[in-house]
Amino acid sequence: MKEELIQHARQVLSDNDRGTYTVPTHGLYPFQWNWDSALSALGFAHFDEPRAWTEIDTLMAHQWEDGMVPHIIFHQKDDGYFPGPDVWATGRTVPTSGITQPPVAGFAVRRIHDRATDKSLASQKAKALLPKIHAWHQWFYRCRDPQGTGLIALLHPWESGRDNSVDWDDAFERVPTDGVGDFVRRDTSHANPAHRPTDEQYKRYIWLVQTFRDLGWDNSKLHDASPFRIVDPGFNAILIRSCQDVADLAGRLGMPEIAAEARAMADRGIAAMESLWSDALGQYQCYDRAAGKPVDSASIGGILAVFAPIPKDRAAALAVRIVKLAKACNYLVPSHDPTAPEFDGLRYWRGPVWLIVNYMIADGLECAGQSSTADRIRADSVRLIERSGFAEYHDPITAEPCGGAHFTWTAAMVIEIFNTYEVAA
Ligand code: DGY
Repeated sequence: MKEELIQHARQVLSDNDRGTYTVPTHGLYPFQWNWDSALSALGFAHFDEPRAWTEIDTLMAHQWEDGMVPHIIFHQKDDGYFPGPDVWATGRTVPTSGITQPPVAGFAVRRIHDRATDKSLASQKAKALLPKIHAWHQWFYRCRDPQGTGLIALLHPWESGRDNSVDWDDAFERVPTDGVGDFVRRDTSHANPAHRPTDEQYKRYIWLVQTFRDLGWDNSKLHDASPFRIVDPGFNAILIRSCQDVADLAGRLGMPEIAAEARAMADRGIAAMESLWSDALGQYQCYDRAAGKPVDSASIGGILAVFAPIPKDRAAALAVRIVKLAKACNYLVPSHDPTAPEFDGLRYWRGPVWLIVNYMIADGLECAGQSSTADRIRADSVRLIERSGFAEYHDPITAEPCGGAHFTWTAAMVIEIFNTYEVAA
């Protein structure tokens, strides 16, 4: 079964391979997505190291001059996706979106480097990539944390990767929809509309895009101008972890300045993360920077915080929280608490399980010595794929496959998990 799943996963990766980048899945997402790419590289690395490096090289080749790395790179024309380059209007030679996504590239580069069999290629690639990734991290703290709190804010739900999380519901009430003209969504022609964000949410997504576009995508202005400014513990944890990984690798590759700066950013982030802990929820929670108050929402963002080197007692408390969630579902880790009234097991980030998040949570738990909970998450992940295939996400109670099928990062995680850990299948 294990070999069969790995072969199938490799087939998914090769079907979605466009030569120098992969699409997340044919149809629904026909371009290069930022965190999809970096995580997919982990899968490629197990059978084609040069191809893994190319994936990250291509992503970073489209970094903006200010350091931002966009969430979509529109390598070719495709009318099957909305909003396309004309809506973003970022004015790039190869069109890109104007917002970013979780910065997993630093983590991925270190992991692929450290496991590489071709050490000379790995150090050559990592040496070229680290200054770019470091500049991206500096961009976050400069443009998304202008007050120097140690935590960065997201300005658009699409930046979080968790587009329609319950976490954004209250803040989204403040995002108007006036001036958003008619548009035709394309996602709902590729995927079941009941699995996707609502039309009301889409209008607000587009309002934010138009507002940022009207500010010329000037990142020195966007933070203060946005009515949506949310500090997400999961996102910050990914940034902190990547800073730490950049620091470690840069130190070993003879780049002491980058190492020291990256280490300082990670340390400040870890200290600041403590302000997001909620005793009531038993996990971290988001903070609504525009409203100046915490977001009382039990989502996976507050559990993904364990991907950063948080204090051991916090990691232990998160393991307890996960075990509690396991009583309310059949497959860990639901993206929202199944006992909460807003939970929806099919709808994108309001309940379904996502393998990439499972992988990062399990990795963080493992690093913190919480191996049994990490094992359980990986075993559930594999059971889910065995039962329901390489879907974009799955219902945590019924295992129903949701969203796009034949999904690159789901396949990459299966390859990564089987090749790295002992998992029964
Ligand atoms: C989408 O189009 O659904 C993406 O999540 C936004 O990048």
